[in-house]
Amino acid sequence: MSLPLVLLTHTLPPDWLASLDGRICAVSGPVDATSLTPHLETHLSEAEGLFCLLTIPMRKELLDRMPRLRVVCNMAVGVDNVDVAECTRRGIPVGNTPDILTAATADLTMALLLAAARRLPEAAQDARAGRWKTWSPTGWLGADLRGATLGIVGMGKIGRAVAERARGFGLRIVYIDTSPRQDIEAELGSTFLSLDELIRQSDFISLHCPLTSDTRGLINEFALRKMKPTAVLVNAARGPVVDTVALVRALSEGWIAAAALDVTDPEPLPSDHPLYSLPNCLIVPHIGSATRGTRRRMAEMACENLLAGLEGRRLPYCVNPEVYKT
Ligand code: DGY
Repeated sequence: MSLPLVLLTHTLPPDWLASLDGRICAVSGPVDATSLTPHLETHLSEAEGLFCLLTIPMRKELLDRMPRLRVVCNMAVGVDNVDVAECTRRGIPVGNTPDILTAATADLTMALLLAAARRLPEAAQDARAGRWKTWSPTGWLGADLRGATLGIVGMGKIGRAVAERARGFGLRIVYIDTSPRQDIEAELGSTFLSLDELIRQSDFISLHCPLTSDTRGLINEFALRKMKPTAVLVNAARGPVVDTVALVRALSEGWIAAAALDVTDPEPLPSDHPLYSLPNCLIVPHIGSATRGTRRRMAEMACENLLAGLEGRRLPYCVNPEVYKT
């Protein structure tokens, strides 16, 4: 019996994909692919499975070219790169990798928040460049965390994990989500606010919402202008939640103090982008889940989804379980 053909949009370490050995016929793109390679394109019509990363959009036009497709596995918790509604319409289950990256992403969020609050990029750069002449009582002054207010936009699993960590630093937590979360309020002493109030009250604002039509551009010029001039914005969610053009102005004209970004719009930013020239903007290359254990487990979970889909079983981590109701 012939093995099902699976498109792996990227090359991953073979030991992460060990469970697929002997069970699929794989055609892979390069490790750094940002679009489907011509070689992969020639196999679209035969592919029964798709294993993809968030860097390549999986839209209707592509799905139209994959008539035999039976399962889509995104190696990420976010699935905004996949047209899930279109997959559902076609009865194709879409898998993601939830929960496993919560701790790593929350850790990175705190690293970004602390680095921006204490101006680590500037201070490190000054030390390296010989500008550290003496212990300076007024040099590199940053923001105090204890007693300050952290506004969390999106109190899902990652937002909550950030809140847990932030409490250890003495931050007061306020949040916004689609509705108040009584369990979290009791456990973490956090307060539900409107976005407007959260923006006005927060010293630090950390974004953890998914990218949807409601959250695209949520942090726009209007929102940025309402933030405190001392505010620090952290984005470890998705780049388009923030209006990049407005952010450049906010940082260069002092509407807010600093930003720390794990994600950008576009992603990556061109190397001459104005955000890179601003000393109060820290940018890292979408590394929220980038720990060795987390990334390996994400790949393994995506493989579990893939094999389940190919074998006609329910995906263990499925974002459109309604496909099983018909
Ligand atoms: C995700 O999984 O959605 C992250 O952005 C990458 O790990």
